[in-house]
Amino acid sequence: MHESVDDWSGDYDIFDPKYIENPYPIWQELRVSCPVPHTQRWGGSHMTTTNEDTRKIAKMVDVFSSINPLVVSSDVPVTFDTDTYGVGAPPISTDPPQHGPARRLILPALSPQAVIGYRPFTEQICRSLVTEMGDASYADAAEQYAQQIPPRVIAHILGVDLDDADQFIAWVRDVLEQGKGDVSKRLDAGLAIRMYFAEQVKLKRQSLGSDMVSQILSGDLDGTPVTDPHAIATCVLLLIAGIDTTWSSIGSAIWHLATYPDDQARLRQNRDLLPVAIEEFLRAYSPVTMARLVLKPIRYNGVDFVPGDKLLLNFPAANRDPLAFEDPESVQIDRRDNRHIAFGIGIHRCAGSNLARMEMETSLRILLEMMPPFTLDPRRSVTWGGGQVRGPRNLPLRFSD
Ligand code: HEM
Repeated sequence: MHESVDDWSGDYDIFDPKYIENPYPIWQELRVSCPVPHTQRWGGSHMTTTNEDTRKIAKMVDVFSSINPLVVSSDVPVTFDTDTYGVGAPPISTDPPQHGPARRLILPALSPQAVIGYRPFTEQICRSLVTEMGDASYADAAEQYAQQIPPRVIAHILGVDLDDADQFIAWVRDVLEQGKGDVSKRLDAGLAIRMYFAEQVKLKRQSLGSDMVSQILSGDLDGTPVTDPHAIATCVLLLIAGIDTTWSSIGSAIWHLATYPDDQARLRQNRDLLPVAIEEFLRAYSPVTMARLVLKPIRYNGVDFVPGDKLLLNFPAANRDPLAFEDPESVQIDRRDNRHIAFGIGIHRCAGSNLARMEMETSLRILLEMMPPFTLDPRRSVTWGGGQVRGPRNLPLRFSD
């Protein structure tokens, strides 16, 4: 039974339905009254709420470690054989000096040039999903569209069977969302992903291709050949980092367009504005909050951190800080001065940002091109999923005739 929150500064809960539904007023109040609040929930943590703190702490990598980026899993022992299935999810779960080589290994397959090559496939997926959705009497743009795109795109990039995409969605949701209170569900899903990639790595080793798994296997970590466990752990990250995040961002953008018809009409008339609008959607509806583990004692902004403490780096709250953005609560699709940190900042800044932007641009452009104007369907409810990745999970749309 969920215990609701009365005191956000001393007992916050990122899984509280109120926080998931509408966190913005909570952050507004905390920034003024208690900018680095604490909670005992989920094993205890602090959380940033200002832009300055989030930026600064993200760069203090020798004090705030990335060893366990999911706050709910930090107290759970590792139950699988790391010699077989790898450790963590590099590079996101590593600190220097391991971080640099693990990150460099995956950058070529996610470069702007590589991403251009994934665009035709993404367009094809989006067109066929819109066609299917267009025929139905009722459309849920989260389940039938936004959710379907990233798992297929990542399956295509990794060079695995596209039919496995539905399984990816279920696993990732168990790890990031559904399994938040259910440790065994989360562990089972985590192990299933590792076993899946162990099999894929075995197959690819026998005959390397041009896909990303093969590129990882034939790459090196500063001169040292990549082992199977490292490749498996890296693939785990690509799946977890690439699916819920992008699904959430596409969904939030569609939610905005359905809720604010003037903005939708403006983008229909001026498609060139789409990339600028996407940056604003990323700022205003940033999906990702990441966790850090304190390694050394430090006093920061009135808080005495001790080794073992946990901290949430709240990129979404940082992007709504009035000291960093003019009128941050208003979503302006032509906002030009927009140095948001939805993709993080510092050494762990999102390695998939080129890909994420391409998926957002392609999916929104094709939806606007192929479908008539849409609004939210008042007969059904919008639902939001949250925690460390926030976005609409049901998004009922009504299309005009
Ligand atoms: C709109 C969608 C996305 C958002 C908002 C997002 C956000 C983020 C954030 C905030 C971080 C920083 C984590 C930290 O500081 O601990 C990150 C890291 C990362 N993301 Fe994304 N991400 C998105 C999509 C993707 C995609 C599509 C991929 C590729 C499959 C991806 C791969 C990664 C990787 C590999 C890292 C770790 C980088 C490192 O540790 O050096 N992300 N992402």
